[in-house]
Amino acid sequence: MHLLRRNRRLRNSEAIRSLVRETTISPADFLVPLFVVEGKGIQEEIASMPGYYRYSLDLLHNEVKSLWAMGLKSVLLFVKVPDNLKDNKGTEALNADGLMQRAIKTVKDAVPDMLVMTDVALDPYSSYGHDGIVEDGYIVNDATTSVLAKMAVSHARAGADFVAPSDMMDGRILAIRDLLEKEQFVNTGIMSYSAKYASAFYGPFRDALDSAPGFGDKKTYQMDPANREEAIKETVMDIEEGADIVMVKPGLCYLDIVRDLKNTVEVPIAVYQVSGEYAMLKAAAEKGWLDHDAVMLEQVTAIKRAGANIIATYFAKEVVKLLS
Ligand code: PBG
Repeated sequence: MHLLRRNRRLRNSEAIRSLVRETTISPADFLVPLFVVEGKGIQEEIASMPGYYRYSLDLLHNEVKSLWAMGLKSVLLFVKVPDNLKDNKGTEALNADGLMQRAIKTVKDAVPDMLVMTDVALDPYSSYGHDGIVEDGYIVNDATTSVLAKMAVSHARAGADFVAPSDMMDGRILAIRDLLEKEQFVNTGIMSYSAKYASAFYGPFRDALDSAPGFGDKKTYQMDPANREEAIKETVMDIEEGADIVMVKPGLCYLDIVRDLKNTVEVPIAVYQVSGEYAMLKAAAEKGWLDHDAVMLEQVTAIKRAGANIIATYFAKEVVKLLS
């Protein structure tokens, strides 16, 4: 054969492969989710997320320092709220001395330059395990957004750099931006979970925070996994309402959505590789059915290739260790 073009010439050594590689991964790509609990000296493993932990504030301090030392500069905070503090209005979410507010201060105290993002939704605080206020079995929209806005301001006041509403109520970005502006938090950003699907992949996360819905499911507010164009509508609306960063969640099953958004919007796109995705790989690796590290790298690379500017993943530390 006298082929003029042979694509394999660009694959024949690691040197040439790395020279022509289109997507590379670095510590700067990652946002690290962290789970926080009350108490002292606590680092407890989450049963359905092997190798992932909930930390009490004292140990959170150390963890954040070690993340920073690895080049991981952004965290996304979640808190596990004791049952006796849960109600239907998210009262504890607004407590200026609540666990989230103290966690924000703990991170900033440990590493002042660490970027702190906080989850804004009522589910960890809700006696019903729902992301909003419940009335007659329905998650009401407008009353919920006003609590979320106050929650966002409370996080900003405690020192959060970005708030990350994960609830999928209509108009919450507008409500949050509006109140942040009124309260002079003009530099507090919003990372909106703009295309968040009603996914079955969140199970282990709900174990981690003991936040599973007490009745029903989240299908009246989170998106139908069958929908693609709706993700563009949701995301464009969130940008119009003031979102600085938008997000697609979960990750791997939704990379078509990531690419659609990449081709449509002009703000940074985050992808959340969620708890169920983490659990699946851990389980398969434990059985010896998949090469853990190779699959992990392939997955985060695919997420970035699809168009993610930011990857929120429980694998962040392991990926960075592997890279170095
Ligand atoms: C809460 C929230 C959830 C996740 C992030 N924020 C769970 C849910 O919506 O039920 C899931 C993250 C994961 O599974 O890793 N609003």
